Order: sequence, then structure tokens, then C-alpha cells
Amino acid sequence: MEKWKTELVPADEANIARAAALLRQGEVVGFPTETVYGLAGDALNPEAVEKIFRAKGRPQDNPLIVHIASMEMLPDLVNNPPELAFKLAEAFWPGPMTMVLPKSARIPDVTSAGLSTVGIRFPSNPVAQALIRESGLPIAAPSGNLSGRPSPTAAQHMMEDMDGRIPMILDGGPCAVGVESTVIGVGEDRVRLFRPGGITVEMLEEICPVEIDPGVLHVVEAGRKVASPGMKYRHYAPKADVKIVEGSFDAFRAFIGRQAGEGVFAIVFDGEETALPVPALSFGAEDDPAAQAHLLFDLLRECDERGAKEVYVRSPRTTGIGLAVYNRLLRAAAFQIVHLDESGVAAQ
Ligand code: TXA
Ligand code: MG
Repeated sequence: MEKWKTELVPADEANIARAAALLRQGEVVGFPTETVYGLAGDALNPEAVEKIFRAKGRPQDNPLIVHIASMEMLPDLVNNPPELAFKLAEAFWPGPMTMVLPKSARIPDVTSAGLSTVGIRFPSNPVAQALIRESGLPIAAPSGNLSGRPSPTAAQHMMEDMDGRIPMILDGGPCAVGVESTVIGVGEDRVRLFRPGGITVEMLEEICPVEIDPGVLHVVEAGRKVASPGMKYRHYAPKADVKIVEGSFDAFRAFIGRQAGEGVFAIVFDGEETALPVPALSFGAEDDPAAQAHLLFDLLRECDERGAKEVYVRSPRTTGIGLAVYNRLLRAAAFQIVHLDESGVAAQ
């Protein structure tokens, strides 16, 4: 891999033009979207796409999402999308929704990791749109973290992971949503949810029936073939050992009292922090999943910086964007869940 002196620059017009020129030359750059920061490369140039995989250390069998900035870009990238795809685009694009559709011959195999489909997304972030328009390219972009680390929701987080690996990161401020896009497979009359995100199940159900792939909430056993390769990786793993804790706050407090010790942290809801004998970070009010989505990845990074060894997280509600929060937490926790009874004792 080339060694770069990575520039972290404001996402103004001049720097967007420079980033677009780099993309046209087959280089890769960091850029903001409304979900998380992405690592961009020309989706149609296999060498550029290989640079993305190398910079992230990403497994070759995990396909990339291709980003567009107008509906006119779509026909070139996909083959005979079902009518439903246009209905969904009308409802939710630009925005945090990725549709998995049959790919056209223009999409190189490295981009789609050898699948016959490709994930397409039309982001709403103005910098992302300007970069796509200015480069004139469909842009392949995974989240801009090193593979296995929490996704970056600020340019500085991406710098921590990518410094020296890429030429430039455009700083467009913190990401509005904070978790990655909703990924759906689109059929004739229904969709299948592969990854929950900012476009929620409830929103999709306004348009058509939604089937939730078992991989969203359950461990994918080793060797099983999955519809969306990202589901089988642990992901978002901070260095600490994360566990989700189910039960009331009283039970949580009693439980944490017995776990307390060096390197033990808690992630809890607003107002609960001060009642605990360990360092506790709040990820928002219990009934505010949008706030939790916005903060989750930041808090996982913060726990690492503060030397956390074990992190116990209050289990969030799974309605609306809460399902995305819970799905990311499950992966951060490698599916470890502690179930507490009312006295705070863990069920065996
Ligand atoms: O919000 C987002 O989607 C961000 C920003 C940068 O746009 N991107 C992102 O990309 O999260 P990445 O590569 O970190 O996650 C893409 C997910 C993976 O779980 C991958 O397996 C799935 O989408 N995916 C991509 N193409 C697919 C396909 N053809 N079929 C099934 N799953 C696909
Ligand atoms: Mg990712």
C-alpha cells in the first residue's frame, strides 16, 4: 500500500474539486455522508476499488455500495430493476437507504464481490452529492473505518483509522444519522431487510411488506451462505469486551455494583449515569432512538480511548431506528447478552 501524508481538509468547493480529480485518477478519498463517513473510489475502476479494500483491510467477499447523485445514473448500473425499486426511490431517496438490485455488466466483480447484484444508494448529504456530480462517477464507498472498527461519524475518527493510507479526507462535520444506511433486497412486491438503518421498517411498511432477514438479529453460523455478506462479520468491535444487558435499571445498578472494577464502563440512558459506581456514558434518552443512533459509534470509540476493558450497555428499544442501534450493538457485543432478574442476578 502507498504511504500518504493524509490531508484533512474542509469540504469546500475547491477541496471537493480536488477530491473529485483524485477519484478520476483512480485514487480513493474520505468523504461525509448523512449516515457515516465513507471511503470513496471510482466504482467502475477495479484498481480503484482494490485500493479501497486494501486501505480498509476489508475481506474481499464483502461487496461495496455504489453511490449515485441522480436517477439518471441508475440505468447504467442495474439490470431491469423491479417497479417497486422506483417507488422506494421516490419515497426515500436521496437518503439512508441502499437497494440491492441485479447488477449491469458495467459493475466490476471486485465491486460486487462476485455477486450478481449491487447495492445502490443516493445519499442526501450535499457534500456527497457534490463529490459524485463533480467527479462524474458512480462512487463505491464502504464506511471509512478500518475493517472491524466502529464506523466513523466524524472526519477526525476517519483520520484515526486512515492516516497515511489515503491522500485526503473531506471534513463535512458530524454525520446527521450516525449509523449506516438501511440495506434491502428488492423483490417484485416486497423487500427483505439485510441491515436496519435510518429508513426504518415502519417507514418501508408504508410502501410494501418487509421480511426481516434472520441475520439482522441472530448469529450467522460459520459456513452458512448469507444473502448479505456484511452480516457474518463481527463489525464495530471496540477493543473492550461489550455486553448488552437486558432488565430494569434497578437490576442493572445492582449488577454493575458487583462487576465494578478497573476498566469496567457502562453505557446507559440519560439521567442514569450518576447513579452508578463505574464510569458511565449516556447514549440518549430511553425513548429517543435517533439520539442513540447518533451517539453509539462515538461512545464505542470513547470507551476505547479511556481504556475500557468491559462495557455493559443498557438494552435499547427496537422500534424505529432503535432496531439499527440494537443490530449494531449486537455485533459490537459479538451477540453476548446478559439477562437480569429483578434483583440484578444474571440468568445462567
Ligand atoms: O451508510 C452507508 O451505507 C455507508 C455510507 C458510506 O454510504 N456505507 C456502508 O458501507 O456502510 P459498508 O461497506 O460498510 O456496508 C455495506 C453493507 C455490507 O454489510 C454489505 O455486505 C452489504 O451492505 N451489501 C453491499 N452490497 C450488497 C449486495 N449486492 N448484496 C447484499 N448485501 C450487500
Ligand atoms: Mg462498514
